[in-house]
Amino acid sequence: MTTCIVVGTHWGDEGKGKIVDYLGEGADIVARAQGGSNAGHTVVVDGEKFVFHLIPSGILHPGKICILGDGMVIDPRSFLQELEVLSRQGVKVEGRLFISPKAHLVMPYHRILDELYERLRGKGKIGTTGRGIGPAYEDKVARWGIRVGDLWDQEIFAERLRTVLHYKNLFLERVFSHPPLSFEEIFSEYLGYARDILPYVADTSLLLAKGLEEDRKILLEGAQGTMLDLDHGTYPFVTSSYPVSSGSLLGTGMGPFSSIEVLGVCKAYTSRVGEGPFPTELKDEMGEYLREKGHEYGATTGRPRRCGWLDGVVLRYAVRINHITSLALTKIDVLRGLPRVKICYAYEVEGKVVEDFPLRPRFVNECRPLYWELGGWDEDIAPVREYARLPLAVRRFVESIEDLAGVPVSMISVGPGRGDTIIRKALW
Ligand code: IMP
Repeated sequence: MTTCIVVGTHWGDEGKGKIVDYLGEGADIVARAQGGSNAGHTVVVDGEKFVFHLIPSGILHPGKICILGDGMVIDPRSFLQELEVLSRQGVKVEGRLFISPKAHLVMPYHRILDELYERLRGKGKIGTTGRGIGPAYEDKVARWGIRVGDLWDQEIFAERLRTVLHYKNLFLERVFSHPPLSFEEIFSEYLGYARDILPYVADTSLLLAKGLEEDRKILLEGAQGTMLDLDHGTYPFVTSSYPVSSGSLLGTGMGPFSSIEVLGVCKAYTSRVGEGPFPTELKDEMGEYLREKGHEYGATTGRPRRCGWLDGVVLRYAVRINHITSLALTKIDVLRGLPRVKICYAYEVEGKVVEDFPLRPRFVNECRPLYWELGGWDEDIAPVREYARLPLAVRRFVESIEDLAGVPVSMISVGPGRGDTIIRKALW
């Protein structure tokens, strides 16, 4: 197996950062394909916590090549801040960190518009991360975007910014009565960024193609999750990119090929941050319990995450949409100590049992989750490294998920640290 795509099976925050960090050890190249600093991947190494927003978490492994791919939207300010933190923590990135010139830049007006749009939406707001992600992708599709590669030539960048800013200022002033932004200020701010960023810019799709030719192990690190996908998620409560597995290929400039492992990262319960439908959400003490015990607060915004039982209908949908070949189950330790645990195996919609995720918005809003109830466990499973040594109740929980998903669970994370992992089938 030379290429592995890691995707989130639900609404993000499944624990992809830790899984990617674990797999990064055996990989040669780790690449991100989509999203931007809306992502927040937390990794704990020797008790030290690292939070990544833009840079692939594989960067913590010395010598690994890390790529910010074509489909990303990059806020240079966040990128440089992340570089600074890494350098303070002694992580060397020179010669092994690359940014695609095709990636789009997040500009100051994107952050402003993100906030203004949310205000305008009022009660129907999406609950975005406020990082300017939606407006940056909106510009990309409308062909008002400015790409990282535009920073290569000062005159091209100036001309592009002048044209785009003219339109943006018209929009800001006329629609939102917002004061216009200054060309000079943005131009000089971004020229400063250009100096620091350009040394990292390279043809990343070419690097990946060479990697494939040389049979290198490539890890594509998905951000967000299947249900936040622009096409396949709970639209319009989604992000503006493609977190599904095919989005990882699109956003790195790789075509479809055989021998791809798609690893779905699935949390032992489900969470969602921001607005939008969430059938298994628990608005009671149990939801509160999961949030506190699982430290379910956004890595990017600090917002409390909504929590509920594992949604198996969404899981099955994610297996289909992503062509998931195996699962990594995370945060199973959080369920310890509960007398019973539940897994949603289907929804009830207008009196009928529905096993496939409904596409009619009213059905998604009104469906009633149907649960399997399983026995809980009291044992501390954090030190366990062999599947057979897990308590029977935990194995029943894992095997119920396999039955629902129709694919094997190849990894089980039993704690936040790099080593707190049970491997049932090694990827590489
Ligand atoms: P945006 O990506 O900032 O536009 O936010 C759109 C929706 O996606 C909101 O509900 C966010 O909370 C959610 N979202 C974006 N990135 C992440 C992530 O990395 N984890 C979980 N939710 C996310």
